[in-house]
Amino acid sequence: MKTYLVTGGAGFIGSNFIIFMLNKYDDVKIINVDALTYAGNLENLKSVENNPNYSFIQADITDNEAIAKIFDENDIDYVVNFAAESHVDRSISNPDIFVKTNVLGTVNLLNNAKKAWQIGDDCYKPGVKFHHVSTDEVYGSLGPEGYFTETTPLDPHSPYSSSKASSDLLVKAYHDTYKLPMNITRCSNNYGPFQFPEKLIPLIMNNTLLHKDLPVYGDGMQIRDWLYVDDHCKAIDMVIRDGVDGEVYNVGGHNERTNIFIVKTIIEYIKENVDSQVGEHMIKHVTDRKGHDRRYGIDPQKIKDTLGWYPETPFEVGIKKTLKWYLENSEWVKNVTSGKYQKYYETMYKDKKEV
Ligand code: NAD
Ligand code: TYD
Repeated sequence: MKTYLVTGGAGFIGSNFIIFMLNKYDDVKIINVDALTYAGNLENLKSVENNPNYSFIQADITDNEAIAKIFDENDIDYVVNFAAESHVDRSISNPDIFVKTNVLGTVNLLNNAKKAWQIGDDCYKPGVKFHHVSTDEVYGSLGPEGYFTETTPLDPHSPYSSSKASSDLLVKAYHDTYKLPMNITRCSNNYGPFQFPEKLIPLIMNNTLLHKDLPVYGDGMQIRDWLYVDDHCKAIDMVIRDGVDGEVYNVGGHNERTNIFIVKTIIEYIKENVDSQVGEHMIKHVTDRKGHDRRYGIDPQKIKDTLGWYPETPFEVGIKKTLKWYLENSEWVKNVTSGKYQKYYETMYKDKKEV
């Protein structure tokens, strides 16, 4: 039985990862530690909440006392660090919390893992590992050609990606300096169930259903490399089990799409399946995001060659599955877009002018 301390497990990818792991294995114990910010929702974990191998602790990863207590009371084998402030637009309007959670929170986890696992100078309990979940955004922006490899220099542009790059470097530093066993995965944009409706796909889905404007930043020709969330979960599981200590692995499925293509795909799906009144007339090109990265594209050759990972879900299948999930889970959308999120949701686009 291995014990995983999963941070940020009530968010989009973290909750998908916990469900994926508990469905796949009987011999894993998962402790989900989440501060339950606006982005964390325990409803995501309803299907596993009574599983005897799952438990939840509400705590902030920057809280040393709380994290130390969790390590004291549990025999943890792996830390899987998803907890983060994750929305680029929020990082532009309020960078400080990104530094606090993403940088200081990661250092606090590293310190506690090191303290709990170290059994001698540069020597750790066998089999332990710190797995840090990162993003392709740390590499910056690509022109029309080429891909990000693990050796592409870090060149983040937004406060979000800069805080993620900082946390990546700290994880690397704890390996290089103290020999703390670790891996980092850098994944492209994920889509799937339980993604908070401030990110492109669920936001456009929700706004289309509500007959609201569909905000497309700038010309909409920016490119993201989309991966179905279960394929990301599978990659993290493989890297934790078989990844070489100290290595970084890029995760992505060569699935590059322009934002405008994504928006039109969603409109078409809703028009065909739900509401014939919706259409491209709802698209509003609005002020571009400051410092907007033009293109992301991952080269996943290393994880394919060394661990045999590949993306199982073609985009055409994954997007339909995802949109169907949002349609069937309109209560979930209502719940997460009410309460403390609502105020933000309403003011989010007040500075965005149609262009
Ligand atoms: P999310 O915003 O949906 O979830 C983040 C979770 O972290 C939430 O449950 C939130 O409550 C929790 N959290 C925030 N601050 C915390 C704190 N101080 N202490 C404890 N918990 C806290 O994010 P996501 O999209 O699921 O992303 C998860 C991770 O994956 C992030 O580290 C992100 O950088 C990375 N990532 C995301 C994507 C993507 O497309 N979403 C792609 C690559 C990498
Ligand atoms: P997002 O989902 O915020 O992810 P990220 O910025 O991490 O890639 O945005 C995906 C792309 O969609 C990005 O290029 C910004 C763009 N976008 C819009 O055009 N309109 C929107 O309302 C949102 C939220 C994003």
